[in-house]
Amino acid sequence: PRIVVLVSGSGTNLQALIDATREREFPGDIVAVGCNRPDAFGLERAKQAGIETFTVDHTRFDSREGFDAALRAEIVRHSPDVVVLAGFMRILTADFVRAFHGLMLNIHPSLLPHYTGLNTHQRVLDAGDSKHGVSIHFVTEDLDGGPVIAQAEVPVESGDSAASLARKVQEKEHLLYPIVLRWFCEGRLRLVDDQVCFDGQP
Ligand code: GRF
Repeated sequence: PRIVVLVSGSGTNLQALIDATREREFPGDIVAVGCNRPDAFGLERAKQAGIETFTVDHTRFDSREGFDAALRAEIVRHSPDVVVLAGFMRILTADFVRAFHGLMLNIHPSLLPHYTGLNTHQRVLDAGDSKHGVSIHFVTEDLDGGPVIAQAEVPVESGDSAASLARKVQEKEHLLYPIVLRWFCEGRLRLVDDQVCFDGQP
């Protein structure tokens, strides 16, 4: 399978995916990395790995529709079998999401359905929760609300700050995303009637 990864920032998840897909028996290839910010370090990581990149700068568009159409055209040029959002920080239009239905994955730093949106680490602390974590889900029109594929938990300990929680959660992210992408590339993971099927089982 051909993988396109979209990033907006530092790209530590992208790096974990590059490293995993470079292992000889990985069943897919990252064929391109796309980004909405020309200065994102994620682009640098892709270039260093010899992966093609494209940038669609959202500040050059005056509508979400225009941006999404341009982004979609760039993605489609690479004929991906799966689109992986790895810290891609733009809200996508319904049309865009529908175009990649069942073929687009996202990672979100919370135990969904809790804490969609931003600042999840601080919100977990403020709520006094005892556990936190990361979720990987299929992208649907529901922001951070698509069917969850896998989660990893971390304990919230006394003395934790938003920064320490972010570090703990990211460690799990870097382990979990390559595993889930491998499942998808092996054809074990499918979205059927908006339900996650693993090895043919709901
Ligand atoms: C991750 O925490 C991810 O869960 C969130 O954005 C962050 C991206 O980090 N959606 P990085 O760019 O992969 O380092």
